[in-house]
Amino acid sequence: MKEHAIKLSILNTLCDGHFHSGEGLGEQLGISRAAVSKHVKGIQSWGVDVFSVQGKGYKLAEPMQLLNQELLQSLVTAPLELIPVIDSTNQHLLDRINVLESGSVCLAEYQSKGRGRRGREWVSPFGCNLYLSMYWRLEAGMAGAMGLSLVVGVAIVEALEKLGIAGIKLKWPNDLYHHDKKLAGILVEMSGQAGSAAHLVIGMGMNLAMPSNTQGITQPWACLSDVAEQAVDRNQLAATLINTLQDALTDYEMTGMHGFVERWNRVDNYLGREIRLIMGNREVIGVSRGINEQGAVLIETSNGLETYIGGEISLRGI
Ligand code: ATP
Ligand code: BTN
Repeated sequence: MKEHAIKLSILNTLCDGHFHSGEGLGEQLGISRAAVSKHVKGIQSWGVDVFSVQGKGYKLAEPMQLLNQELLQSLVTAPLELIPVIDSTNQHLLDRINVLESGSVCLAEYQSKGRGRRGREWVSPFGCNLYLSMYWRLEAGMAGAMGLSLVVGVAIVEALEKLGIAGIKLKWPNDLYHHDKKLAGILVEMSGQAGSAAHLVIGMGMNLAMPSNTQGITQPWACLSDVAEQAVDRNQLAATLINTLQDALTDYEMTGMHGFVERWNRVDNYLGREIRLIMGNREVIGVSRGINEQGAVLIETSNGLETYIGGEISLRGI
């Protein structure tokens, strides 16, 4: 069997949320009970809450809906690859940029090296969130990349609204927030030369039902299951995000930021609120006034309206 295939097969059985005996699981897979127990430990190391009760077997704390490659592919036109266990979906696409079609997507259930901006870790437990990356060839070159990364945030908020999930906001440049807690993060990485097309990998991690005891996150975080009024279908959500993202990127290539500024500002988490911009050792304090057509953040300070742009800036509420 392929690497991880036994663990994935055990999870496929356990995902119904019922008890399954170690003996039964072992018989199903042609392995011993001891081997099942070893694999369950591996599954736990992916962040899955599996527990065992003597005489009953193993059970997930919560049922789990797994992503389904065939179903997903039938819902999107983008070429799509589901790799359940991966280092990073962004890295996977970056490594294959030369052979990929623009719009290609990679999804995973677990990332061992999920990353955020500036090399920070993106905590990526198995099966309870979304980890999605899309490759996009931007003919306009690197100059268009800043705008594009803001457009991604707008597209994701609008995709959630299409599914009836309201109240999700953006934090510049492109984090998704709910009630001042981080719901999702976007990481756009690029490879390309000045003057030619830019090759972008757009990665998004969104929390859906992450166990509340998840370790390693250094700021308040939110989950979509706490926001949505109805249960969220992970395949449906992933497909809607992919299709909406593709449409928004195509729109952006044709019309630029025009039209997106207003859409971004409509869902700005900090519009009219006091914020702090942190740039290395320097800080600017003022009232947030949204973004402009260049994708810069606007801040009203005691010196008047100032604009800031660049990857090394962090925005914080006060
Ligand atoms: P900025 O980039 O503006 O400084 P940020 O603090 O959100 O904002 P990022 O680099 O964008 O920083 O994201 C990494 C942050 O996200 C880290 O603080 C990390 O602890 C947190 N984080 C990691 N995994 C998750 C997750 N699954 N959900 C929410 N937050 C997470
Ligand atoms: C951030 O807020 O700093 C961005 C987080 C981006 C996480 C996603 S998950 C899918 C893709 N693969 C990665 O390694 N990172 C992005």
